[in-house]
Amino acid sequence: MTDHPQYNYKVVHQFAIMTVVWGIVGMLVGVFIAAQLAWPALNFDISWLSFGRLRPLHTNAVIFAFGGSALMACSLFVVQRTCHARLISDGLAAFVFWGWQLVIVSAAITLPMGLTTSKEYAELEWPIDLLIAVVWVCYAIVFFGTIMKRRDKHIYVANWFFGGFILAVAILHIINSLALPATLTKSYSVYSGTVDAMVQWWYGHNAVGFFLTAGFLGIMYYFVPKQAERPVYSYRLSVVHFWALIAIYVWAGPHHLHYTSLPDWTQSVGMVMSLVLLAPSWGGMINGMMTLSGAWDKLRTDPILKFLVVSLSFYGMSTFEGPMMSIKSVNALSHYTDWTIGHVHSGALGWVAMISIGATYHLIPLMYGRKAGDMYSVKLIDLHFWLSTIGTVLYIVSMWVNGLMQGLMWRAVNSDGTLTYSFIETVEASYAGYVVRFVGGAIFLFGMLVMAWNVWKTRQLALSGPALEADAGSPEADAREVMA
Ligand code: HEM
Ligand code: HEM
Repeated sequence: MTDHPQYNYKVVHQFAIMTVVWGIVGMLVGVFIAAQLAWPALNFDISWLSFGRLRPLHTNAVIFAFGGSALMACSLFVVQRTCHARLISDGLAAFVFWGWQLVIVSAAITLPMGLTTSKEYAELEWPIDLLIAVVWVCYAIVFFGTIMKRRDKHIYVANWFFGGFILAVAILHIINSLALPATLTKSYSVYSGTVDAMVQWWYGHNAVGFFLTAGFLGIMYYFVPKQAERPVYSYRLSVVHFWALIAIYVWAGPHHLHYTSLPDWTQSVGMVMSLVLLAPSWGGMINGMMTLSGAWDKLRTDPILKFLVVSLSFYGMSTFEGPMMSIKSVNALSHYTDWTIGHVHSGALGWVAMISIGATYHLIPLMYGRKAGDMYSVKLIDLHFWLSTIGTVLYIVSMWVNGLMQGLMWRAVNSDGTLTYSFIETVEASYAGYVVRFVGGAIFLFGMLVMAWNVWKTRQLALSGPALEADAGSPEADAREVMA
């Protein structure tokens, strides 16, 4: 069914399905740990159900399993369509798919067992790290190999973003994970002290910049113009956007380490570079939004486009908020509070998840020989859109309120210089926010279940119903269609 005369759709289909599956799993864990923060008894006194072990399971599942599958599905689809070339090797592509699934399953087993390097977003122990490196290099070979055998001289801008993301993640992962193994399940980082922290946040921030941003911008530059049936607003701006973004992102990591033992000047460089980052981020967001010029009316009837455009507005919001939070005096208030968690999820749910969902709705029907975006039920996509939007808003607003309140309560002092509030009073005051966040997360998760149902029915329809006009993968230039 996913056979295509010209392209390898099999691996795209597999990753697209796993995007939905891992989205549900990762968010289910997210909802569960959100519930634990409101009702701690949900630990059940079982070590592998404790918050400390499930939290990294959540972050790994949503970033690398859900986000990673969406990125691989979309990049491997876009590179074929815009290069008019089949992936260089079906076997290697299959290895990338199964290898990545093995990484995810290994993470899902080892993290609840408490096996961790304790480096955030790089918790997995060395044998899994090695597997990641091998799979990632194969992914790079498949992607860049396909670019090399392209039939169009031009390399469409989405591929630049995907290429940048693939290269940067390889470098980040390998350098940050360098460690001396002690046993099969325990290793020690080759870095120590402040250097370890610096390398870790150089990695951590660029994981945000390249995994959670550049790759998804690649998705944006293909799927927004395609779904809107309009060329990119300014192709020139998209190229400037790419170079500016990758040149600046790499310097911003120290904003995660304000007021630590890191040399003060590095903190200031991190802050200034984060402020500069606002410009390319907004340039890209505006470029995506303006692609809809002359086609705004489509937003009334096309919920897939709504997903894509609203994701861009959340991208704009979080890339405004991020630079503000990197200002040292603002960070003094926001750091350690739920404000950071709100910022993370306005990027993660609003931007990353919503653009992935929009792109997946565009892709899935193509995998079944239907027209792009032609899902079983448009109404259900619309319902999903509202569930996601409401869920995200509830999540981030509750965390902003909690974060500001915590920051202000922690720094409040009486006239005699003693603290006004004890820590536990701030925890008690956060309870309502935690309940609202749990409700928002549950609503978002419910939307994902609606999506799974819609995908299932689309598949059924394709299996049983009359064959619809297939997407023949005509040699017409996809790239030219989306370029101004
Ligand atoms: C149903 C949706 C979700 C819920 C209910 C949820 C819930 C949570 C909770 C409760 C935490 C721990 C917060 C804390 O330690 O105080 C968390 C952390 C985190 N989540 Fe989610 N999450 C969801 C979706 C996502 C998605 C889709 C992503 C990424 C694409 C994501 C990325 C993260 C990250 C990166 C952190 C760590 C934040 C930090 O360390 O500052 N989450 N999430
Ligand atoms: C111009 C863009 C951005 C800048 C300058 C920026 C800046 C920041 C700052 C200052 C923090 C708080 C650091 C701390 O106090 O510990 C932060 C945390 C974070 N941001 Fe952003 N942000 C940006 C965009 C984004 C986007 C688009 C996403 C997600 C898709 C994102 C994900 C995160 C995550 C996951 C963290 C938490 C890291 C952790 O402590 O575990 N950021 N960001």
